[in-house]
Amino acid sequence: MTTTRTQVAIVGAGPSGLLLGALLHKAGIDAVIVEARSPEYVLGRIRAGVLEQVTVDLLDEAGVGTRMHQEGLVHGGFELAFGGARHRIDMKTLTGGKQVMVYGQTEVTRDLMAARATSGARTVYDAADVALHDFDSDHPRVTYSKDGASHELVCDFIAGCDGYHGVSRASVPAVAIRTYEKIYPFGWLGVLSDTPPVSHELIYSNHERGFALCSMRSMTRSRHYVQCSLDDHVEQWSDDAFWDELRRRLDPEAAEALVTGPSIEKSIAPLRSFVAEPMRFGRLCLAGDAAHIVPPTGAKGLNLAASDVGYLSSSIIDWYRGDQHSIDTYSERCLRRVWRAERFSWWFTSLMHKFPETGEFGQKMQAAELDYLVNSNAASTAMAENYVGLPMMAAG
Ligand code: APR
Ligand code: PHB
Repeated sequence: MTTTRTQVAIVGAGPSGLLLGALLHKAGIDAVIVEARSPEYVLGRIRAGVLEQVTVDLLDEAGVGTRMHQEGLVHGGFELAFGGARHRIDMKTLTGGKQVMVYGQTEVTRDLMAARATSGARTVYDAADVALHDFDSDHPRVTYSKDGASHELVCDFIAGCDGYHGVSRASVPAVAIRTYEKIYPFGWLGVLSDTPPVSHELIYSNHERGFALCSMRSMTRSRHYVQCSLDDHVEQWSDDAFWDELRRRLDPEAAEALVTGPSIEKSIAPLRSFVAEPMRFGRLCLAGDAAHIVPPTGAKGLNLAASDVGYLSSSIIDWYRGDQHSIDTYSERCLRRVWRAERFSWWFTSLMHKFPETGEFGQKMQAAELDYLVNSNAASTAMAENYVGLPMMAAG
């Protein structure tokens, strides 16, 4: 077994692990990232693409914001479609100037990977048998195998950035962790296509046939979704069937404007809300999807991962400067922001999707809430300030 000493062992090279590595590297703290898959796999996963200002600021702080500012689309609002009409939520006006950046997670990951390669910091891809050890001591370790050889990282901290299905949260004794979960009775069928967006902003549609979303990656590449059954399989959905169903769920103007084309990616994602508490276990800290999952409706997944990493990087930097308080409040500060985003994501999902089990009364409740939402400045403001992202939280 080859033993290597580093300050922080990061498990997972998704957005959380890569952003943490970039922020620690900038502070002169050595971190090795151990990733189970290949760079191509990590880049091949299509995820959401709406960045809060908090996320934009952290990417700028990490020195990877140049292309985002060149190619990203700044949006001051989005539209809610229901009852055959569209209603704009003017986020910029309602929040005193706040906006979001539309820039795909794949591009964020690409920028972070390029910066890490340039920095010379060490990333181990295609690592097998990754295991965490002794994180309840002052000498935590991560072991893994690569090309048949065994390796060990001796470190001061382990950052569990390995997502919902990773090994980090699974390594915590059951008695030390509590989880909260809600599974939604439907999925999202998503299609990526090199076609112009329906509109210059996102359109979220509540329709009697089910939810639909018109999003984008640029003004020439679109991302669309329709709510689908958990029994659906992507092979059952031809491109034409998808476009026809999407068109049925849009208002007449949007349906007319829709430009269809061949799918370059097509997939079905389940929806869940999930939180693990706490997020710190001695020298192991969880960040991102390893600790929490949100339904994609509010586009909060990447943004919560970024704010976790913002808290964690500053806490580790403070620890090396002799300040123990910051890492001791890491979990509490993260979870306060996580639960507010979990609530918003659950609320927005409950408002916009078709829930057959709630019947006609449930549909009337959704219609009444949407009518109130777009006709009340207070309700629209609450929606807008959650969508642009709540501020980073102090401890409770
Ligand atoms: N060992 C090492 N790496 C692992 C292991 C393991 N045992 N298990 C998983 N991984 C890797 C995955 O291959 C993946 O590259 O950890 C990474 C986790 O990345 P994400 O799942 O993307 O999670 P995170 O970095 O927190 O980013 C959250 O990604 O999935 C989206 O919607 C989510 O936008 C959110 C963002
Ligand atoms: C996306 O572009 O993939 C996207 C945008 C907004 C959401 C969810 C997904 O709420």
